[in-house]
Amino acid sequence: MSHAAEISQSPNAGVGRYDWERQTTQRTGAGAVDDPYPVIDAARAEGGVLETSLFGLFNLPDPMAEQWPGARRFTAISYAAAEAVLRDNTTFTNAGIRRMTEHVFGPYSLMGSDDPEHRQFRLLVQPAFGKKAMGLWQHWVKPRLDELIDGFVADGKAELYFDYCAKFPVFVIAMTLGVAREDLDKFHEWAAMLQIGAAPPDEARKARHQVEDYMRKVIADRRANPQDDLISLLIGSEIDEGDAGKRRITEEQILGLICNLLPAGAGTTYRSLGIILVTLLERPELLARVYKERDLIPAIIEEALRWNGPVLSAPFRYVTADVEIEGVKIPKGALIEPAIGAANREPERFEHAGEFDPFRAPKPTLSFSFGAHFCVGGQVARMELRAALNALLDRLPNLRFDPDMPKPQLTGLLYRMPTGVPVVWG
Ligand code: HEM
Repeated sequence: MSHAAEISQSPNAGVGRYDWERQTTQRTGAGAVDDPYPVIDAARAEGGVLETSLFGLFNLPDPMAEQWPGARRFTAISYAAAEAVLRDNTTFTNAGIRRMTEHVFGPYSLMGSDDPEHRQFRLLVQPAFGKKAMGLWQHWVKPRLDELIDGFVADGKAELYFDYCAKFPVFVIAMTLGVAREDLDKFHEWAAMLQIGAAPPDEARKARHQVEDYMRKVIADRRANPQDDLISLLIGSEIDEGDAGKRRITEEQILGLICNLLPAGAGTTYRSLGIILVTLLERPELLARVYKERDLIPAIIEEALRWNGPVLSAPFRYVTADVEIEGVKIPKGALIEPAIGAANREPERFEHAGEFDPFRAPKPTLSFSFGAHFCVGGQVARMELRAALNALLDRLPNLRFDPDMPKPQLTGLLYRMPTGVPVVWG
């Protein structure tokens, strides 16, 4: 299947301020695919399950091909097919993710495990994302946002994607985990290296060891002096297994969670906020309304996540038994990508699916995935996005694109992002 002609090839492939950032985003399709949806919409005529990888659909080299020579590849693009894959975690397991990410996340990871191990691990980390923990996350958000705005408010213009969106989610995760302020830049880089498919295995492994060495010291410190922070909460986490007694989280599990959290929580929120800002700046009337009607913000966030979420496909699943979905036979040993972004644009499910319409009637989406592995940080992400938008609107009146800078565009295949968010205000 070839759709090469429809792909815009940007000479400046990759998005980022630093080489490592441009390289990691380039590997996941930034610059090679700006708008994937015309190709996906055309492919819907072929069915809800396509025999190709997501990158194959765009005639691009597949970042996973080397690790899976000979594996048959499928992509679920209809809502029902993607949901069916995500629901059945016995037939569609994360065993392949484990093989691909053990060097990144270590032996314990949420993304790389299946039930019953995964369920047990999720229960152990749940306190870090529940109601009580939300205050611990929130504690770092608003002061950091204000501090970032303080840094550029007097200039009358800023590059919000790199100087605002990029700088707070990793900060919040790192600070809740007890990382020192002066080490935040290092954490930002390690987080990018740990993203699935974004860095060569050696670099990802190196970043993981750096994170682990750093965090072992923090964990030892908090064991000796517990504080009112997320890492202390995690260290104390345990589950009651009835007759088998209580199970405490191990240090290796905490480290596994952290290596998972950094890329899962930092890159996604960062890109999502950038996408939302570009979307609003392209619609000045809506933006003017949002300044006055802040209660529109939650619907704007949900719709932006549906219409152009930062993750086009949930991590691929490994097929453990011959199975058929929507008439397509998928053999044992194949890999299938649940393309949640494609599902969220399905015309039969969402009226005028290709339009950004925050006033549409709310409906469930797959933006944070579905099933056993659905995003554990969804509430944290929503809270961060609301706070970040409100902080900007509170302090920067009449935001608009910087007329002296090139208009940014959305780009990327596996991960979606804007090329920048240059703005002026006042
Ligand atoms: C807009 C922001 C975000 C989006 C769109 C998003 C989306 C996703 C998606 C699609 C998955 C894959 C689920 C699957 O395999 O089926 C996932 C998993 C995950 N996310 Fe998020 N996420 C976001 C923010 C966050 C944040 C802020 C955190 C943490 C603070 C986080 C932590 C995780 C973790 C740990 C997993 C693995 C869960 C598991 O395998 O059990 N995410 N997320």
